[in-house]
Amino acid sequence: MDHRKPLIAGNWKMFKTGPEALETADRLVKLLSTTMDVDVMIAPPFTALALVSDLLKKTRISLGAQNLFWEAEGAYTGEISASMLVSAGCRYVIVGHSERRQYFGETDETVNQKIKAAVTNDLIPVMCVGESETERESKETFSVLDRQVQKGLKGFSADEMETLVMAYEPVWAIGTGKTATADQAQEVHLFLREMLEKKFGNNLAKSIRILYGGSVKSDNITELMTMPDIDGALIGGASLEPETFSKIVQFQK
Ligand code: 13P
Repeated sequence: MDHRKPLIAGNWKMFKTGPEALETADRLVKLLSTTMDVDVMIAPPFTALALVSDLLKKTRISLGAQNLFWEAEGAYTGEISASMLVSAGCRYVIVGHSERRQYFGETDETVNQKIKAAVTNDLIPVMCVGESETERESKETFSVLDRQVQKGLKGFSADEMETLVMAYEPVWAIGTGKTATADQAQEVHLFLREMLEKKFGNNLAKSIRILYGGSVKSDNITELMTMPDIDGALIGGASLEPETFSKIVQFQK
């Protein structure tokens, strides 16, 4: 399969209370036509998931969480398991976002365990990878990505990776307004797809969606999406306003 349906995903990070999230999701549902030929996912904070899930039930927008813990249950104060996310209505879960790596001690090893928990529970993992500004400047981009992918996906079979979504989010482009150029992103996406091909074979590599994230806006999405290996976007700031996000979702127009 060579055709990959684009996925436009909104990561709301630590924004919006339950009622605020509900109101935003409601406006978004009204703005998005029922005939979209892209998949859309929004990832509100944990406390809004169940509320928003109810609202999204009869729509084509999917719900995602921003993190999970890998154990099924137990004495892990403050943590949330994959089955809890499923029962709150989630279909996707973001794993290994650079903010979690930077502020909350996420490592390639914990990313690996979290992806395992996600796929075991039929949640689609959105695995984030990306280099920092210093790493790019010292020409370590590809070695950093190689490490993140090798360790993060260690031990998985091709079958387990069937639904995997990867998100390339260069840390220097997140929330900075400094987006990677379409050519810079394409170069990395191709590198990632070639790595996936070596690890899991040609068929899987061709079907895995690789999203770009980092200052995506309605005025740069179209150019990014013309690239052969960019299959969608993971959007932070510009996903918080339904009007802005819906323009990005409707990027073809
Ligand atoms: P911004 O779109 O705000 O740069 O954030 C990107 C991001 O981190 C999405 O996960």
